[in-house]
Amino acid sequence: MDSMEQHSQIAHLIRQAMNHLPVLRHDPSQGIPLQVPGFGPDEVLEALDAMMSTYVTMGRRVQRFERAWAEYCGTRHAIMVNSGSSANLLAFQALVAAGDLRPGDEVLVPAVAWSTSLFPVAQSGLVPVLVDVHPANICIDPGAARRAITSRTRALLAVHLLGCPADMGELRKLGLLLVEDACGAHGARAGQSPVGSMGVAGTFSFFFSHHITTAEGGILVTDRDDLADICRSIRAHGWIREMSTAREIARTHPDLDSRFLFLHPGYNLRPTEMAAAFGLHQLERLPGFLETRRRNHREWCRRLSGSGLPLQVFPEPEGMLHAGFSFPMLLSPHAPYARSELLAFLEGRNIATRPISGGNLARQPVAQLVPGLRVPASLPVADAIHDRGFFVGNSHAFGSAHGDLLIDTLEEFHNEHR
Ligand SMILES: Cc1ncc(COP(=O)(O)O)c(C=O)c1O
Repeated sequence: MDSMEQHSQIAHLIRQAMNHLPVLRHDPSQGIPLQVPGFGPDEVLEALDAMMSTYVTMGRRVQRFERAWAEYCGTRHAIMVNSGSSANLLAFQALVAAGDLRPGDEVLVPAVAWSTSLFPVAQSGLVPVLVDVHPANICIDPGAARRAITSRTRALLAVHLLGCPADMGELRKLGLLLVEDACGAHGARAGQSPVGSMGVAGTFSFFFSHHITTAEGGILVTDRDDLADICRSIRAHGWIREMSTAREIARTHPDLDSRFLFLHPGYNLRPTEMAAAFGLHQLERLPGFLETRRRNHREWCRRLSGSGLPLQVFPEPEGMLHAGFSFPMLLSPHAPYARSELLAFLEGRNIATRPISGGNLARQPVAQLVPGLRVPASLPVADAIHDRGFFVGNSHAFGSAHGDLLIDTLEEFHNEHR
């Protein structure tokens, strides 16, 4: 058997073996998981091709995926890395290296965000200032942000939380450098603008549970040529190899071998070819995935708003395209039961729940260890989210029966406990 035949036999076997997986449809009798893996044989075979070629570290597939992702976001550049957390680290490290930000500058960060939305700010020598979120969308509140500005404030991290775009129109008016953490908001838009494309840099995560996945992975997008170059250097040991200006830089250091010429204090945040192989196929699926997530989100919001249950939902704000990452709810302070009782009931029915990201990050023990962290004002909305918020999964593989299950279960619990 020649290698072509072997290859097609392997492909056939993998397609058969993965046939039973619920890539596109999930059985609601299994409950509501946090996510349903949305990859299948196409992704696995492309990753296998990468492995069988023996070219497994960052290479052509990564470049192809970067071009495709930049096009999807409408940006000039995309720099793929090994996680969304790494993309956030890269954003702030690069902005410091480029001189846009200086050590000691203050950066406004929403108090409700992921832990690694916050840490990279301090890890880059900047001062994170936690700001309250808005009760309508759980994203940074532009009014609270304005009140937090001091003479040292230079930047703001807009986290598009759980798929909901932050109010970029109002945030732009603050006159700060905007960085977007769109790690859970693939395909979301504010007006016509894709998230990630509105700030100086935008980041995405391709972790297993996100809209699309590369197992682990992330990417940074930017329109700035200089910033993209610095990112490519910081991503890979701080060397110059992937910089567009590598030749000119090398000429100014004739004493050094350009292959080992280090310009920035960098890291190794590189992705693998297998991750990019996944990404190329996942991107093709994203529009369809997004449509289903958005339909679920819209439908669940509509039904719960009219249900009389003591739960606030977070519908798509006017003029925005909500990417429906997961489905957050806020239990009313007047509910006749505690959040813990409700969540235990849901979990008992195989409806997985989680807190809304890190809750109020100022109340996490790690807040004491984040150098310079400032909390200039009280954070009442973040506190409410911390104390009474939770989310359940949303997925491209869910249909109307999952909505029925969620709402029936919430109503059943409510009727037993009111
Ligand atoms: C808003 C936000 N930022 C950053 C991250 C980190 O991404 P990763 O898990 O790929 O490191 C996440 C992860 O869920 C996130 O939700």
